[in-house]
Formats: sequence, structure tokens, C-alpha cells
Amino acid sequence: MEEGGKLKRIQLNEEVFIPQIGFGTWKLDNQESAKQSVLTALYTGYRHIDTAMSYENEEAVGQAIKDSGIPRSEIFLTTKLSNDIRGKNETLYAFEQSLERLQTDYIDLFLIHWPAPKKYRDQYIELNNETYAAMEELYSLGKIKALGVSNFLIHHLKELSTKVPVSVNQMEFHPYYADWATIDYCHEHGITVEAYSPLGRGQILQDPIIIKIAMKYKKSPAQICIRYALQNNIIPLPKSQTKERIQDNINVFDFEISEEDMQILKRLNKVDGKIGSHPDYADF
Ligand code: A2P
Repeated sequence: MEEGGKLKRIQLNEEVFIPQIGFGTWKLDNQESAKQSVLTALYTGYRHIDTAMSYENEEAVGQAIKDSGIPRSEIFLTTKLSNDIRGKNETLYAFEQSLERLQTDYIDLFLIHWPAPKKYRDQYIELNNETYAAMEELYSLGKIKALGVSNFLIHHLKELSTKVPVSVNQMEFHPYYADWATIDYCHEHGITVEAYSPLGRGQILQDPIIIKIAMKYKKSPAQICIRYALQNNIIPLPKSQTKERIQDNINVFDFEISEEDMQILKRLNKVDGKIGSHPDYADF
């Protein structure tokens, strides 16, 4: 963290800056524990909360933000359009419902969650364009501060017509899985990359090489994975419902992984390392 305990922010567009670590909330679908986890994250110092319509916890996130007493303007809030919604009017309507659930009148970052939902797969390109145009309308009204996508591969990004540039692409990223072609493409085109499942959903934390590196830096395997994302210029969105881990996961600014160890972590990338669905073939 920077001086004053504040998370460093990265510029997304002319006016918008995003804190370099976010709190992920996928699977936090029990309303009470979702609310408590987000509150703990906010009290710990997180100022960036990542939710989605499909996580079914927007009410809890909104309530936690309200209960925290932290001014809305200090919190960076992301939500995502679910797969069953596409098209102009549908997007505008769903967005207003999200605002209501989140008890706010704007969203800092609004993402199309998946590029090619099963329901719309045969016409996803035109529908994504219509949807994105609706998001641009909300952007021009100041109701969304930055626009983005999630799980978009290079071809999906190329297929999208935009007047307001895509600021963010949120993708699965951790030492066992990185789509470097898409990451490099995003970075070359000024698109900030965010990492979901930066801890490999907790499934890679027993890896002997990650443990060895963690011991070397006197840090936890989770902290090594978070630092690995940060040092690749990627914004990690770790999720936890455990207070100590929520704290642990943001306490990563007092060490730096050497270039040599970054290369060792990079070589852990596996052909079958992806845990989540493939963007072109997802079964939802
Ligand atoms: P829990 O929520 O019970 O704390 P990801 O962010 O990659 O999706 O990973 C989330 C998973 O990793 C959850 O199962 C979470 O468990 C676990 N997790 C989160 N932080 C840590 C940590 N610091 N140490 C170990 N496991 C963690």
C-alpha cells in the first residue's frame, strides 16, 4: 500500500482510477456472510469490490458498502451484465435493477460478463455490439464511469464496435493459467487486465514450488500469487470469507518477487491449468 495505507490506483480513463487490488465476491452467495466478508474487506483497507448480477449478492454488497460508513466516492464498485441479458432495452433495464440492489446511483466499472452466452451464441456479435452501445449511453449519462468486458479473447475484442474504448478485460489468471496472447494484446491496446481466481480458487496453493518461493520471502502462497499478478501489471481480485486471509491478501506491498522467481512462477503455466470455462464454449 502507498503512504497513508491507501491502495495505489491505476488510471483507466481520463477521470477514473482503479485500486490495484480488488475484493472478489464470486461464490459469496449467502447474503449474511457476503455482507460480512465485504465489510471485513472494507475495514481492512480494500476500496475496490467486484461483484456481478449472476453472483446473486449485489444486495449484500450494497448493504455492506452502506453499513461501512465509507463514502461511496472512495469505493470502486464493479458489476457485470449476466449472460441471459443482451440488447439495448434489456441492458438498460437490468442495469437500473443492479443500481437498486447495490443502493447506488452509479457503477465505477460495468462489464459484459461473458462474450458468447449459450443462449445467444449464434448471434452474439451483433448482440454484444447493441449491448455495448447501451453501456456507452449509460457512460455518457455518468451512470457508468468506465466500460469493460470479461472473458473476452482477442477475436471477441476485435469483433466489438466501440466509441468509448474498452478500459478493462477481466480474465482467469494465476500461476497455473495465463492466456498471454490476450493479456499482451490488452496491454498493447491500453486495456487494463484484471485477474479472477488469482489464487486458482485456492487449488494451487499447495504447489511445492509456490510454497518454496513463499518460504523464501516469508510470505504465504496466496500472497505470492497476488504479487505475481501485480508484478505482471494485472489487478488481482482475490476472494475469501476468512478475516485473516482477507487481511493477508492485501498485505503484499512490503516485498517484491525477483525477476528470476517471476520466471519460475511463469513456467508453472499448464496446458490444463484453466479451472473456469472456455469463453467460446461455456455451457451457460
Ligand atoms: P475462503 O473463502 O474459505 O477463505 P480465488 O480468489 O482464486 O477464487 O480463490 C478463492 C479460494 O481461495 C477460496 O476457497 C478461499 O477460501 C481461498 N483463499 C483465499 N485467500 C486465501 C489465503 N490467503 N490462503 C489460503 N486460501 C485462501
